[in-house]
Amino acid sequence: MTFIPPAERLVGVTLKDNWYVVEKVIRDVKSWSGASCYKVTRGSEVGFLKAFDLSGMKKVGGEDDHELLTHRFKRELSIIKQCSDAKIGGVVNLLGSGKHFHSGTDLNELVNYFILEYCADGDMLKCIEDHSLIDFASRCAAVRDICEAVDKMHANGVMHLDIKPENLIHFINERVTKIVDFGSARRYIVDVDPNLNDELNEITTTYSYAPFECLYHDNDWTNNWNEYRRKIDLFLVGTIIVRIFTNMTFSSLLRNRLADKYSWKNKRNLGKFQEIKPFLIEAGSKVYVMIKSELEAINSRCGHPLTPAQVKQIVSTIRDLCYPDPKQRGHPEEVGRKNESDGLYRYHDRFKEMFEQCSLKISK
Ligand SMILES: Nc1ncnc2c1ncn2[C@@H]1O[C@H](COP(=O)(O)OP(=O)(O)OP(=O)(O)O)[C@@H](O)[C@H]1O
Ligand SMILES: [Mg+2]
Repeated sequence: MTFIPPAERLVGVTLKDNWYVVEKVIRDVKSWSGASCYKVTRGSEVGFLKAFDLSGMKKVGGEDDHELLTHRFKRELSIIKQCSDAKIGGVVNLLGSGKHFHSGTDLNELVNYFILEYCADGDMLKCIEDHSLIDFASRCAAVRDICEAVDKMHANGVMHLDIKPENLIHFINERVTKIVDFGSARRYIVDVDPNLNDELNEITTTYSYAPFECLYHDNDWTNNWNEYRRKIDLFLVGTIIVRIFTNMTFSSLLRNRLADKYSWKNKRNLGKFQEIKPFLIEAGSKVYVMIKSELEAINSRCGHPLTPAQVKQIVSTIRDLCYPDPKQRGHPEEVGRKNESDGLYRYHDRFKEMFEQCSLKISK
């Protein structure tokens, strides 16, 4: 008989607090975390259930995997709860959480879960791939929401580390975007606990969106873990802006302008980030020019919803956030300051204004 993991057997189950599991949410991509996702209802309320079991345990150096998996689940849940309680706009709301046992008290039958607000429109990927689903005003609104969410998360001591289209839900009619999937997120570290070193080093950001210091495996550019992680988030925000407006990916654009001998795909270069950085910066400057002309072409095809000054502002935001040197990444007026702000709120204000002007133009 084929074994179906407990988290995969929830349709028709009534969970604690009367949440009823209606159906599975079908996903195009394979889950990295091994979570099972469902639509749940309670009266007229609808929720998104993310369920985890212990069946996918891989033996990690003989460690107690129950403990590791439970630790990961608890960390994800507590970070979402922290952001939800702090009422960070642009972060998904938490509706509930609990445990479910299918039968008996066998630990392997245990399902840990949490329930989030449900977005019937799903994630942002399809809106990026099919631009007819969202206009320029909605794209500006999405950047506004993402910048605000990440700025507030950082102010609350949370780094997301896996911001990408699949981890952004987008409510099309409301023009609202929210961040989900805190599986890779980490908290601000006050004192480094040596026992947690492996978990600290484990940055699981998605390879195709990762910043250059990660691609070249350099985590020595700073001895401040919080700065290291904040700058990853900034790069991810910059990359998402490129994708939202052009459907292109910043690092692959840059690789096309980088000599093969300096590429991160060449394993001999791993660890040589500092040496290669000047070439990345030079290639980057060509990428900004290319993004600008692509943006102008798209803007013109769409009937000029953006002014030339706004196009420039988008490109300068991308330059600040995707800057290859992590030390220089962020708003120029904030970089190098001791206050640990990267000025994301300034981009929030910029895109909020752009959204307002753009929606006025579109509605005329
Ligand atoms: N609140 C929600 N409403 C609707 N759809 C959601 C919601 N949260 C997530 N999704 C969809 O479900 C998918 C999976 O959720 P999530 O990203 O949290 O888990 P995961 O992908 O398994 O984790 P990982 O990225 O580590 O593999 C998302 O990519 C998104 O398409
Ligand atoms: Mg995900």
